[in-house]
Amino acid sequence: MSTETTAAPITSIANIGAHEGQTVTVRGWLYNLRASGKLLFPIFRDGTGTIQGIVPKAAVPPEVFDTLKELQLESSVVVTGKVRADSRAPSGYELDVENLHVQQAVGADEPFPITLKEHGPDFLMERRHLWMRTPRQSAILRVRATIMRAAAEFFDTQDFTRTDPPILTPAACEGTSELFEMKYFEEGNAYLTQSGQLYIEATALALGKVYSFGPTFRAEKSKTRRHLTEFWMIEPEVAYADLDDLMVLAENFLTHIVTRVLEKHRIDLKTITGGDDKAARLEKIQAPFPRVSYDEAHAMLEKAFAEGLIEKPHAYGDDFGAPDETYISNQFDRPVMVHRYPAEVKAFYMQPDPKDATKALCVDVLAPEGYGEIIGGSQRIDSYDLLKERILSHGLPLEAFEWYLDLRKYGSVPHSGFGMGIERCVAWVCGLEHVRETIPFARTLNRIYP
Ligand code: 4AD
Ligand code: MG
Repeated sequence: MSTETTAAPITSIANIGAHEGQTVTVRGWLYNLRASGKLLFPIFRDGTGTIQGIVPKAAVPPEVFDTLKELQLESSVVVTGKVRADSRAPSGYELDVENLHVQQAVGADEPFPITLKEHGPDFLMERRHLWMRTPRQSAILRVRATIMRAAAEFFDTQDFTRTDPPILTPAACEGTSELFEMKYFEEGNAYLTQSGQLYIEATALALGKVYSFGPTFRAEKSKTRRHLTEFWMIEPEVAYADLDDLMVLAENFLTHIVTRVLEKHRIDLKTITGGDDKAARLEKIQAPFPRVSYDEAHAMLEKAFAEGLIEKPHAYGDDFGAPDETYISNQFDRPVMVHRYPAEVKAFYMQPDPKDATKALCVDVLAPEGYGEIIGGSQRIDSYDLLKERILSHGLPLEAFEWYLDLRKYGSVPHSGFGMGIERCVAWVCGLEHVRETIPFARTLNRIYP
């Protein structure tokens, strides 16, 4: 598109430092505007960052000054100006504006609804399509994109083959109470997938090391800061891998993701946390991660309760509640891998521990600072008879799992995999209160608009 201002090279705000001392064109939106007599201080954003402009009345054509002075926030603008280094600016640069073209002026009678004052979460979620323009929300979405790319890259560069499972499925993978159900022509009911795992077990036995990456669905009735009804999961599955191999994979995977975020997003992390030095805490995230068995974690909680450090005792045999997970994770400065939970509280497909069949060869990775479980995984049952018995004892329809049982009939091997919810990972890495801010359009129990 023509800039209608000058022939100055178009640059993104993120890359503006490469043009120090030069006149450039930035195409974006008016994020904020302050006036002080014959000076205007607009802040522009372009999706890659924000930059403050300086507009002395004498430096621009008179009509440009008058237009900008009255311009509503979030009007789209094409700005030309000279890049000047300024150590006080968050991005390190300011723009001495020479010209400005208004692409579309927001009407003064209907100004941009999201202002710099505090708004409640419902107000913001109702306007998510606009809220995402604000610097903090944009920064979160940029970090999310890097996390997704780094996650895929980790497996792509280690000889995993990406094999995407179906989203419409004939049966449950995780818990039958959390299934989204629909009519599927003459075939009866179909369900939105809760996890690609069962399918990538098949592709792992075909290709060795595989992963899937896509949307997954849980009809969770839980209204917590960690639950979405639609979220993105990345799931590796590895033939001939046992639980120990899986834990090594998980810690290297998370270390890689955090490394990539630190390489690219130091400014974004500052924007997101508003000062708190998240980067310093992320720098500690280096493999190896501590490994704690369920029994050891239970003992930690017993002791903590006796010392009055947690409110409720943890009942041996139960899953950990959010306060339990928070206490456990607070004892470490990096993610902690809790392994060998009671088989009773875990999924039907998990391999029992040969040393104690009441325990499953599984691992939950708990993020630091109380972010809770970000990864769940296990070694899978490889015996045909045991798997069939588990399917039946969990009241699952055998017909729907015949193909899955075949995998134990034709060259069964020990194999393991895990799933990481992207939104939980983003919430932890960015230090966010709620997962609803980690995805462009969150789907939760009571929200499906916009
Ligand atoms: O622990 P989950 O339920 O494990 C599975 O689905 C396995 N089949 C994965 C596998 O072994 N291939 O879910 C895995 C991860 C959780 O650790 C969490 O990060 C995320 O998925 N997750 C959710 N994220 C947001 N909202 C929800 N309702 C989530 N449920 C799970
Ligand atoms: Mg889990």
